[in-house]
Amino acid sequence: MINYGKHSIDKLDEKAVIKTLRSKNITQGSEILRFEKNLSKFFGSKYASVLSSGTAGLHLTAKALNWKRGDIVFCSPITFLASSNSIIYQDSTPIFIDINLENYNIDPNLIEAKLKKKNIKKSAKAIIATDFAGHPCDWEALKYLSKKYNLKLINDNCHAIGAEFKNNLKYAQKYADFVIHSYHAVKNITTGEGGAVLTNSKYYKNKIDELKSHGVIKNIDKTSPWKYEMINLGLNYRMTDIQASLGISQLKKLNKFLKKRRDTADLYNILLSDMNYCKLPTIKNNVKHAYHLFPILIDFNKININKSQLFKIFKKNNINLQVHYIPIYRQPYYKKMFKYSPKDFPNSEKFYNQEVSIPIFSDINKSTIHKVVRILKKYIQ
Ligand SMILES: Cc1ncc(COP(=O)(O)O)c(C=O)c1O
Repeated sequence: MINYGKHSIDKLDEKAVIKTLRSKNITQGSEILRFEKNLSKFFGSKYASVLSSGTAGLHLTAKALNWKRGDIVFCSPITFLASSNSIIYQDSTPIFIDINLENYNIDPNLIEAKLKKKNIKKSAKAIIATDFAGHPCDWEALKYLSKKYNLKLINDNCHAIGAEFKNNLKYAQKYADFVIHSYHAVKNITTGEGGAVLTNSKYYKNKIDELKSHGVIKNIDKTSPWKYEMINLGLNYRMTDIQASLGISQLKKLNKFLKKRRDTADLYNILLSDMNYCKLPTIKNNVKHAYHLFPILIDFNKININKSQLFKIFKKNNINLQVHYIPIYRQPYYKKMFKYSPKDFPNSEKFYNQEVSIPIFSDINKSTIHKVVRILKKYIQ
């Protein structure tokens, strides 16, 4: 079965992991520090904290920023649940903002329209913006809003590891206060499960390191070396050194992975360019897409099959399609807890009706790409 995404592991990865497995420290050792240093250098942040998942990164960012009940944080409904769950963990309220239909990212104009309401402006604390599929948001507009309304900016960069904005691979840290990575198996680099928070703030780096390890600080008293103090209620969100050594090895190959993803996207774009009812990803000037996903929008009103039938046809051909994402406000938990109305999100609704993610990953072979295209052409033209 071919899925929409897949990891790529080679002998060098295996060697790196085995070396750590045979070393003195398989957790809380030097591989963690080495991975953090390499990430900071590659993505242009002063600091990085590696963690057990991207979700842990979002949660700890929310905790470090001390959001409380009554606080409001803006977020796109077209992202993974973890983006907005991190707001709810703090008892704060996610305000979903509709997407644009060009690159499916949060629309900064609609955030500002909300901020013009006095009660919202007073309670608004931050924006979590996801660079959906690997296409950066309008980070200049988001930065403008963050300065004007004193909001923290969090880039949920889990899809966009290796993307470029204004020809800058280090764009995420340039604009956002916190950059969140996920190294889940389908992401552009993987540690199995894993994630990181990148930041330029020493204060927040220390806070996140403290919170990822039970809220405990050590080495506080040289005369009593056994002493540690729990100064906050933290968690255990640590990454292991086994994972970190895989991450170090994967990061070395990120440019190669990105090239394969971009070559795949180029081929899909050429082969699908004559499709009438299928919208391919569009890319803004000065952006380099990281293609974690290849989302296509199919106008099912114009063709003879619906989305479920298309999924069935692909499944029969050993390909699992996926939808990224069901708008979060449609989830039963969110419906029960909040009063969102789908009518307030016309673009997200249209997107959800039409979106299908076709396979893209660095080890995909040309025959799979051609097979996907053949099936699409047979049923959609
Ligand atoms: C946009 C986005 N945010 C957050 C996450 C959470 O990352 P993780 O699965 O590592 O917890 C993911 C991963 O699926 C994601 O795609």
